[in-house]
Amino acid sequence: MLKIVSGDLQKMDTDCLIIPVCEDRDLFDDPVVSGLTAAAKQLKEFKGKKKDFLLLYGPTGVCAKRVMFLGLGKLEKLDSEGLRAMAGKGIRQCIEKQVPDAVICAPIAATLNQQEEAVLEALLEGAFLANHLFDRYKKEKKDKPLTQVSVHTKPDQAKTFGHLPLRIETVCGGTVLAREWVSMPSNDKRPDRFSRLICKALEKEKIKITVLDEKKLRQHKMGGILAVGAGSGVPPCMLILDYHPAPSAKAKKDKQTVVLVGKGVTFDSGGINLKPSTGLEDMKTDMSGAAAVAATLWTAARLKAKVRIVGVIPVVENMPSGEASRPGDIITAYSGKTVEIGNTDAEGRLILIDAMAYAVKTYHPNVMIDLATLTGACVVALGEKIAGVFSSDPALRDMIVAAGEKTHERCWPMPMPEDYKELLKSDIADIKNVSNSRWGGAITAALFLSEFVEKTRWAHIDIAGPASIAKDAPYCRVGGTGFGVRLLAEVLNRLS
Ligand code: BES
Ligand code: MN
Ligand code: ZN
Repeated sequence: MLKIVSGDLQKMDTDCLIIPVCEDRDLFDDPVVSGLTAAAKQLKEFKGKKKDFLLLYGPTGVCAKRVMFLGLGKLEKLDSEGLRAMAGKGIRQCIEKQVPDAVICAPIAATLNQQEEAVLEALLEGAFLANHLFDRYKKEKKDKPLTQVSVHTKPDQAKTFGHLPLRIETVCGGTVLAREWVSMPSNDKRPDRFSRLICKALEKEKIKITVLDEKKLRQHKMGGILAVGAGSGVPPCMLILDYHPAPSAKAKKDKQTVVLVGKGVTFDSGGINLKPSTGLEDMKTDMSGAAAVAATLWTAARLKAKVRIVGVIPVVENMPSGEASRPGDIITAYSGKTVEIGNTDAEGRLILIDAMAYAVKTYHPNVMIDLATLTGACVVALGEKIAGVFSSDPALRDMIVAAGEKTHERCWPMPMPEDYKELLKSDIADIKNVSNSRWGGAITAALFLSEFVEKTRWAHIDIAGPASIAKDAPYCRVGGTGFGVRLLAEVLNRLS
């Protein structure tokens, strides 16, 4: 789908040539583009301001059937996210106009004060992600994705970065996979179905998959997962996705193990502490952590990652019923600690502690990262677009934040104050799953998890905000965002 091309733009045979334009600077040293841009700027309605848009049909001097100009505003404010968004907007416009093929002109990187690779990456990412439509539930598929998107650059760059299109397709393909799962309705992804969907998606990859069914969960005494799953007509399970790099003589990195844990609540009704009805339907997205982790394994295996990666994914449906766990119940988690269930709606942490304690004991990971739509409190703190990162290891936390800056999956460092652990005290069990205070819910949730990871280098990413969106964005439509896949791919890069 993605391609990097070079050569004479005048002769470029395409349905749509997309040209980014800044209001205060020529971004190209190509006479064809500069000429077209100058002509466009002669028009009153197009000055290259942010949101400026101009589409010319059959302009003279080029073979392209259309030329689309997209305003980027002032050069000073333009970053890679601006490029991603621009490419995304261009592709969306093409989809709307049923244009099957487009060529995006890459600006000169030096003019933008960016690396050439970063510019091409951003354009390819924005284009690929914007080209995804979640339409599997529409009988009539009105919109069609483009069949081909090319990014045009200089011949030497096209050669140097010829490997990029496939890499971006693989990373963003993972994002799209996660988006599809998140957007899917809960009736089509109850724990049995969801785990089968994951197995199916990974079947062609070099990943060993183990599914611990309810019987196995009982044998392993995973009291947290079993307690949360008890109310559903479909039993819970836990997926273990084990990727081994090919052994290499030089690198010792293949001795490193990274565990990724993802919260897989296929629907979170709250359980007996039933949630109010507003927004309840959004709780189909409560498996976004699981989706991101499974999709990251898909991506990592395809990219032949250099470290061992084990995805551990507890999958449950949190429902009220005569069999459901009650507030006040006390369960014994996998680690052996007893947990008082203060609130059945704090279910994510109950399944994560079993998954994480199991992973620590079984795989002794060098690093463990969990992703979870864990708390509304995190959305209150950081809004809907930024995830919270919690870690007892500042270096790991800062690395995740930096990776998120690169992929624009923004993560903000959150504190884990030791004294707040007080708030999780239970009168009769070892710990309680909810805090005794109304405040700081994202922090107390993270502290609860921290009690089950022993000395492991661990970070927790609360993605309750950015896992899905209610309004179309430049390169992501309403629904699952696939947040975390590009981020984790970047984190894995930095770990190896
Ligand atoms: N899945 C929710 C968190 C959530 C809220 C995700 C909003 C996405 C959007 C989680 O299981 C939950 O219910 N958390 C409770 C915890 C409380 C009972 C301590 C919450 O945030 O209210
Ligand atoms: Mn809940
Ligand atoms: Zn939940």
